[in-house]
Amino acid sequence: MKVLVTGAAGFIGSHLARALVDHGEDVVALDRRPFVVPGARVMIDDLVRCKLPSVDVIFHLAGRPGVRQSWDQFDVYLRDNLLATQRVLEHAWATGARLVFASSSSVYGLPTERPTPISPYGVSKLAVENLARAYHETHDVHSIALRYFTVYGPGQRSDMAFHRFITATLRGEPIEVYGDGTQTRNFTYVSDAVDATLIAATALPGAYDVPGAGAASVHDAIGLIGTLTGEPVTVKYQGVAAGDPHSIEPRGTLPGYAPRVELYDGLAMQVESLRVRAAA
Ligand code: UGA
Repeated sequence: MKVLVTGAAGFIGSHLARALVDHGEDVVALDRRPFVVPGARVMIDDLVRCKLPSVDVIFHLAGRPGVRQSWDQFDVYLRDNLLATQRVLEHAWATGARLVFASSSSVYGLPTERPTPISPYGVSKLAVENLARAYHETHDVHSIALRYFTVYGPGQRSDMAFHRFITATLRGEPIEVYGDGTQTRNFTYVSDAVDATLIAATALPGAYDVPGAGAASVHDAIGLIGTLTGEPVTVKYQGVAAGDPHSIEPRGTLPGYAPRVELYDGLAMQVESLRVRAAA
């Protein structure tokens, strides 16, 4: 099968591209940042402007992430999330490719029946889902939105909680917690997110949750990080971050997907990779 991975230099995209190569797929990996995926054809280009290759499945992971940062530079979120996905949908329509794309648990902001995001980032992801739905209803473009739930593990983005918490603890610096630390997430280990993405290639069109093995509060996670690093942990409390939901409950997950990595084991792997990096 010939596949395209956009955002292949990113956190989930890089893990996914390597897994697809390992599965023996013919992989074109695209990102505008320089990167390497052994065994894949690498394209370094701007998704909005470049000519995309014809493939069977497009895994569209490129996009502008980040809940808290999305109050600034909204034009960037519009371009990198909405406009970029419109280009990918046009391409999928023109070539008949199936599309699997990254949405986010951030579409759930308020605990309402229908997704009600409370950050510009969440709004941009819900808009992308709606656009994909319009292409499906009107032009029969087969697309699957994956609402990834706070993905972590080696290679996690440096603005995300676990990367920041572990790095600070290994340096003997305080952890900054937004709010009181009782907020919960279904933290999802990156290999589980990859498994769900591979399963989605044969799923029916729609939007699906991709949660992790269990919910935990930020405080629970910090306790585990203290145990796993063996270092003393100090916490500095900051105000609640704007647009940050208190808890996000998964609703309808992807048929055939079951997360396998428990938080303790996943955090142990992320601590180890950051320890190795700090020592290098
Ligand atoms: C993450 C990603 O950043 C989004 O791109 C993604 O789409 C989203 O998950 C999602 O699943 O929808 P977030 O849940 O905010 O967003 O992930 P983290 O950065 O790991 O934050 C988790 C919690 O820790 C949040 O409540 C956050 O406010 C808190 N946090 C984060 C801190 O207390 N301190 C920090 O230094 C960073």
